[in-house]
Amino acid sequence: MSENKLRGEVYYPTQKTLEKSQLKDRKEWDTRAKQDYLGFWEDFAKELHWFRKWDKVLDDSNKPFYKWFTGGQTNISYNCLDRHLSTFRRNKLALIWESEAGKVETMSYFRLHQETCRFANVLKSMGVKKGDRVTIYMGRTPEIITAMLACARIGAIHSVVYGGFSVESLTERIEDSQSRILVVADGAYQRGKIVPLKEIADEALQRAGTVEHVVVVKRTGEDVFMQPGRDMWYHELVNFPHANTHCQMQIMSAEDPLFILYTSGTTGKPKAILHTHGGYMVGTYATTKYYLDLQEEDRIWCTADPGWITGHSYIVYGPLLNGGTVFMYEGAPFHPYPNRWWQMIEKFGINIFYTAPTAIRGFMRFGDSWIKRHNLSSLRILGSVGEPINPEAWKWYYNVIGNEKCPVIDTWWQTETGMHMIAPFPSEPLKPGSGGKPFPGIEMDVLDESGKPVGANQEGFLVIKTPWPSMVRTLFNDDTRFVEQYWSKYKDCYLTGDSARIDEDGYIWIIGRVDDVIKVSGYRLGSADIESACVSHPAVAEAAAIGIPHQLKGNAIQAFVILKSGFQPGQQLVDELRAHIGHEVGPIAKPEKIEFVDKLPKTRSGKIMRRVLKAQALGVDPGNISTLED
Ligand code: WT7
Repeated sequence: MSENKLRGEVYYPTQKTLEKSQLKDRKEWDTRAKQDYLGFWEDFAKELHWFRKWDKVLDDSNKPFYKWFTGGQTNISYNCLDRHLSTFRRNKLALIWESEAGKVETMSYFRLHQETCRFANVLKSMGVKKGDRVTIYMGRTPEIITAMLACARIGAIHSVVYGGFSVESLTERIEDSQSRILVVADGAYQRGKIVPLKEIADEALQRAGTVEHVVVVKRTGEDVFMQPGRDMWYHELVNFPHANTHCQMQIMSAEDPLFILYTSGTTGKPKAILHTHGGYMVGTYATTKYYLDLQEEDRIWCTADPGWITGHSYIVYGPLLNGGTVFMYEGAPFHPYPNRWWQMIEKFGINIFYTAPTAIRGFMRFGDSWIKRHNLSSLRILGSVGEPINPEAWKWYYNVIGNEKCPVIDTWWQTETGMHMIAPFPSEPLKPGSGGKPFPGIEMDVLDESGKPVGANQEGFLVIKTPWPSMVRTLFNDDTRFVEQYWSKYKDCYLTGDSARIDEDGYIWIIGRVDDVIKVSGYRLGSADIESACVSHPAVAEAAAIGIPHQLKGNAIQAFVILKSGFQPGQQLVDELRAHIGHEVGPIAKPEKIEFVDKLPKTRSGKIMRRVLKAQALGVDPGNISTLED
């Protein structure tokens, strides 16, 4: 076997994994996808339901505005729910949910379909129509899933805002999407405390003027302000006769928008990544099935929040498209004890567990004894996502959590890609720290500044050279920025924003972002998000934010601040600024360190050179500084 010749540290699949996994031989698929790339994707699409078959698999006549399955008609919500109702899956568990306090709720596919229809009828009664944007701002409760599926059912475009974001982030996202409807929970539980989501939303609604109706889902039961004529309780609306369990589904064209999801970019305001019903459906369906290897009897737990792409694709759409049983937990990882997660893996017999390196590193520090007291033998597949996983954490995950029998599927992808792009199949040899190779047929490369592929093991810009079904279609209402951001550095190549190297065996090693995106505990933030929150504080004249390596979080934020005259630097102002940034962007954006400075390094054209700040903070050579102002 040529596999024996792989270089470096390699972990081979166990016999059991080989027997069980749905894809035994990557090479066969690589060859097939190379010979007939479109036919290869078409075969996945055929496993789903279409009201009308596509005329063309890929329309690339207007690059980079690629279209997939054109002429086809479908609805992703129908494929997630209705499609299963005529089979035994009607009575199968679609969702198991546990609250932070330990309350369990379950829903069969039959019931999830009903709840979705009821939610859809509520939205319809608010006048929501095909193409309308609906902002959803909630914690991890079943209603966030039914709200998303309800939007999809009636053709509305959902825009989920992560419940960990705060006033300004929510305002921007509501405004940019011009949502008329906001679905919000009264609050969310986090580590025994309540996050006052409705209160945050009220403040955001004072800044953003587009919302006409607010649907409020009761979660905590705390008193909240309800504005007459604008705010209505979901539990009241859903009891009106019109909110019955029958809701006509909207037939969608493959290229009709399904959702927008905001993500931080290099500069300026967040970007609204747009995904569609057809292509996104096919991509998440196929990768859930073959990379995460979701099978009929499996229970899958993706620990992400539905407010991020990982939750969209691998809590909601991918698993439900496959008729799987999804587990979702409301709370945080280590609360009240570091065994909270392991307890639930044991209790519910989770088979596929998908989490982030930052969580793994967090658990490592509590030691193995918290894990050893639980029986985790149901686990079959372990997944990792969000940032590079250091080999030490990888091995701990493999040895201690997986008991040396579960492959670690390190999945590289982005909000923009919609689906996993680089990952090993469970049947493949693994190298700790590398995600392996791209999905069959997808060509990726590492290029130098001039666009030439760098040699083996050389660092460069990671690009994607082949279109794929679940690719970002555009930035909502901003085609120009879409082209500039992703398609202008190299011809016909999608620029990922990451640096990477490819080893002699074709395994890709991600190094990190090369732009001003900062990954903090796997969360994606932009320097610009933090800087604009900083300067909205009355004491601040100018600010710069950078990411610096952090043992647990991967990166931590460090901010450099120039004060307006009359303000004194000091601990009090540091605390105030941190609280202010937390209030505006969200707690995840609070800088670890704030430094007061008199000057920021800038180019002659006035752009802050964050690279120089970073080099200074790390005590390394800043490289070429010829463009520095002085
Ligand atoms: C960025 C995308 C879509 C997954 C959740 C994050 C980094 C993601 C990995 C990985 C190394 C990774 C990249 C990428 N990233 N997964 N397995 N190994 N880096 O989505 O918020 O859009 O962030 O996350 O830097 O560009 P996102």
